[in-house]
Amino acid sequence: MKIIRWGILGLGKIANSFATDLQQVEGSVLYAVASRSQEKADHFGAEYNATQCYNSYEQLVKDPNVDAVYIATPHVRHHQDTLLCLQHKKAVLCEKPFAMNRKQVEEMITTAQANNTLLMEALWTRFMPHYKFVQQELESGRYGTVKTLAADFCFEAEFNPEGRLFNKALGGGSLLDIGIYPIFCALALFGKPDHIEAKAKIGKTGVDEETEMTFKYNSGISAFLSSSILKKTPTTATLVCEKGMLILNSRFHQTDKVTTILEGTKIEHDFAYTGKGYYFEIEHFAELLRQEKKESPLMSYAFSRLLISTLDEVRELINLQYA
Ligand SMILES: NC(=O)c1ccc[n+]([C@@H]2O[C@H](COP(=O)([O-])OP(=O)(O)OC[C@H]3O[C@@H](n4cnc5c(N)ncnc54)[C@H](OP(=O)(O)O)[C@@H]3O)[C@@H](O)[C@H]2O)c1
Repeated sequence: MKIIRWGILGLGKIANSFATDLQQVEGSVLYAVASRSQEKADHFGAEYNATQCYNSYEQLVKDPNVDAVYIATPHVRHHQDTLLCLQHKKAVLCEKPFAMNRKQVEEMITTAQANNTLLMEALWTRFMPHYKFVQQELESGRYGTVKTLAADFCFEAEFNPEGRLFNKALGGGSLLDIGIYPIFCALALFGKPDHIEAKAKIGKTGVDEETEMTFKYNSGISAFLSSSILKKTPTTATLVCEKGMLILNSRFHQTDKVTTILEGTKIEHDFAYTGKGYYFEIEHFAELLRQEKKESPLMSYAFSRLLISTLDEVRELINLQYA
C-alpha cells in the first residue's frame, strides 16, 4: 500500500482532531505541519510526530515529500490556501465550508482540473457509517415517501468578537460554520430544494448568530433546518416518513446512534467507531489518491457546487454579505 504523506495548514482546534484520527489510518502518516508561528508548529509537530514543522504555509506546499494537504484554516482562507496547494500540485482536502461563495469554489475546481490534482471538501458526515445507513434505508423504499426533515445544530458559544465564530472578517456566523450540516442533510437526501425560506438574527458583529430555514420540495417534502451559536439545542435530525421515522441522535452529524421506527417497530442501531470520526474521510481521500482519482464520487464537485450555491442563496435571503 502506498503511504500517503499528509501536511496540515493551520494548527487550530480541528487540526488537532484530524491529526489524532490520522494516527489510526493505515497507510497515512502526518509528514508536515505549517503554522504562522514556528513555536506552534514545533509544538504541534512534536505532539503528533510530524517530520517537518514549518512556520509558513508556502514552505509546506513546496516540500516535494508532501502528497496531500488538509486545510484547517478559517473559512475566509480556504480559497487562497487551496489555490496555493493546487498550484504546487498537492492534493487538497479542504475543511467546510469549501469557500465563502460559489465564485471561489468554481475557481478552486478549475484550478484542480488545470493542475490535474485531487480536490475534495471535507464534509466528514458524508463518509460516516450512520449517514450511509440512513441513506440506504431511505433508498430501500421501506419507509415510503419522506414527509419532513427537522434538523438543528446549535450551541452556546462564548462571545468573542475576535474569534472566528463572531468575527465577520474571518467568515463568522452560525450558517457557514454549523448551519451547513442541516443543509447538507437536506441536500444529500433530497437534492436541490424548489423553494427556500430563511430568516436570521444578525448580531452586533454583523454575523448571523441564528438562522432558521425551510426547504420546500415539489415532491411534498419540507425540511426545517436551524443553526445557532447563542443557545444549545438537541442537535438531532428526524425524518418523518409515510411508514415510519428515522432519528439521527445527538449530535446528528457525527452520531453513532440511529433510531428507526418502521411500522411500529423501534430499533436502536449502533455504529460505534473509534476516534473522533474523521477517520472515514481520511481513508476515503487516501484511497482516491492511491487510485490517482481527481474527484470523489461521494463528495463530488456537483455536490460541493450545490452546497455552496444553497449557502449563497440563504445568505441572500438573510442579507448576510462578506467582503
Ligand atoms: N469538520 C469539522 O468537524 C470541523 C470542526 C471545527 C471546524 N471546522 C472547520 O475548520 C476550520 C478551522 O476551524 P477551527 O475551529 O480549527 O479554527 P481555529 O481553532 O481558529 O483554527 C484555525 C487556524 O487557522 C490558522 N489561521 C490562519 N489565518 C488565520 C487568521 N487570520 N485568524 C485565525 N487563524 C488563522 C491558525 O493556525 P496557525 O496559527 O497555526 O497558522 C488557526 O489556529 C473552519 O473552516 C471550520 O469550519 C470543521
